[in-house]
Amino acid sequence: MVTRLLLVLLLTLLFSTSSPAAGSPHISAVISQSGLDFAKDLLVPRAAETLAQLSVPDIERSVSIPIIGAVRTVASRIVLGGVAVADSTVAAGDTGVVVAASLSSVNLTMEWSYSYSSWLVEISDSGNASIQVEGMDVGVSMGLKNKNGSLKLFVMECGCYMKDLDITLNGGSSWFYQGFIDAFSNHIRSSVENAIANKIVEGASKLDLFLGGLPKEIYVDRVAAMNVTFINDPRFSSSSVEFDIDGLFIPSDKTAPQSDMHFGDTKLAPPLGSSSNMLWISLDEDVFNSVSALYFKAGLLQHMVDKVPDQFLLNTASWRFLIPRLYRKYPNKDMLLNISAISPPSVRINVGRIDTTVDLDVTVIVLGSDDKVPVACISLSVAVSGHASVSGNNLVGKVELNYFSFDLKWSDIGKLHTGIVQVIFASAFSVFLSPSGRGL
Ligand SMILES: *[C@@H]1O[C@H](CO)[C@@H](O)[C@H](O)[C@H]1NC(C)=O
Ligand SMILES: *[C@@H]1O[C@H](CO)[C@@H](O)[C@H](O)[C@H]1NC(C)=O
Ligand SMILES: *[C@@H]1O[C@H](CO)[C@@H](O)[C@H](O)[C@H]1NC(C)=O
Ligand SMILES: *[C@@H]1O[C@H](CO)[C@@H](O)[C@H](O)[C@H]1NC(C)=O
Ligand SMILES: *[C@@H]1O[C@H](CO)[C@@H](O)[C@H](O)[C@H]1NC(C)=O
Repeated sequence: MVTRLLLVLLLTLLFSTSSPAAGSPHISAVISQSGLDFAKDLLVPRAAETLAQLSVPDIERSVSIPIIGAVRTVASRIVLGGVAVADSTVAAGDTGVVVAASLSSVNLTMEWSYSYSSWLVEISDSGNASIQVEGMDVGVSMGLKNKNGSLKLFVMECGCYMKDLDITLNGGSSWFYQGFIDAFSNHIRSSVENAIANKIVEGASKLDLFLGGLPKEIYVDRVAAMNVTFINDPRFSSSSVEFDIDGLFIPSDKTAPQSDMHFGDTKLAPPLGSSSNMLWISLDEDVFNSVSALYFKAGLLQHMVDKVPDQFLLNTASWRFLIPRLYRKYPNKDMLLNISAISPPSVRINVGRIDTTVDLDVTVIVLGSDDKVPVACISLSVAVSGHASVSGNNLVGKVELNYFSFDLKWSDIGKLHTGIVQVIFASAFSVFLSPSGRGL
């Protein structure tokens, strides 16, 4: 068991006022206690590995030797053999998190030596020793702040506490041993504790370097990137940590190297849908509106439809009775539909669903022998609503069209019956909204 005392002591340090910072995040991510535990289980064993073969600075002390008196003795080559983590825990406070671990089977090896010479005598001796540590607790409290849009991790307190030491000396004369143990054990203890604490602070600064190096933009495609600049300081509560990020889509920097953090391929290692939810993400409608504005501006929200499931609908012959002028002017010609958004689709988020309204111009084009003739244009308003949910490890979505409104903008082929138009569009839209087309 991790000493609760150490944990409590470190935690009390975390309760102080945190500065509320202004900002307008569009995405918030909350890492729950089980998420913190997951991160801890990932980091603690790696931290413990870095402690293996840790060397501790030499220690010089005086040891009293019968007849001669005090002689300077050196403990050198003090090396930590390796540690095993028996138990570890993580807890969040007001300004940071505390990670504490109990280490077991901690042992060290070292060498000792002294030499003394005077005009009367010259003595020297040396040997080695092994040290078995009866339990050790290590704890670190770390804070996170926002620094210029990146996360800055810093250690507030790091403590290492060693229980009893059992030193076994080899070589030399046995009368020397007790003197050595009396003179050295506390110093070995504090040197090792310091060395371990320093190593942990060093590890935390590597973590800080990693966090500082996280990209501020995630490349999505040639048009859009997501601004993942951190906003505000992370907020800590007793069982979670919340991060705010800007989250809006921005034009992608085409000169920037494509990072391998490809948005669409992002895979989270832990199962998202498991009963222990590690991560909650909430995002507001501006996130969607920013990407729709970018795609609109880039001209991606238009689509030429020349194939529909009912292909015969895209031939004037199918319409000879319903739109006689079309067939008379262009008998047996194939047709195309140019479906094109006339403004960026606006997105609203409601409980459990996302609604989008898209205003489109649909131009009906007849394919002549070597030209394309626009013959009519209809403006359409479509309401698309979607739900996303997590099923197993997958994000599943469902999209439905739930509102249609038509207006004939202009026509060279006379009046179009709404019913007819609906048939073609229902067919065309299944293409427009399919994943192979550019979805909205
Ligand atoms: C020292 O610790 C290592 C790693 O925990 C272990 O494998 C080894 O047996 C220990 N040695 C002694 C003498 O206890
Ligand atoms: C803050 O971040 C911006 C954008 O990443 C960068 O250009 C700027 O140099 C940074 N400023 C400081 C003081 O680090
Ligand atoms: C420690 O000293 C003993 C006896 O002098 C020797 O047998 C042993 O090999 C030494 N061990 C190390 C690790 O130097
Ligand atoms: C990204 O978001 C930050 C914080 O909102 C903002 O300061 C920065 O200008 C944004 N970057 C771009 C390229 O828009
Ligand atoms: C499709 O229609 C839009 C707007 O009506 C227009 O800007 C665009 O150029 C057309 N696309 C093609 C390929 O004709």
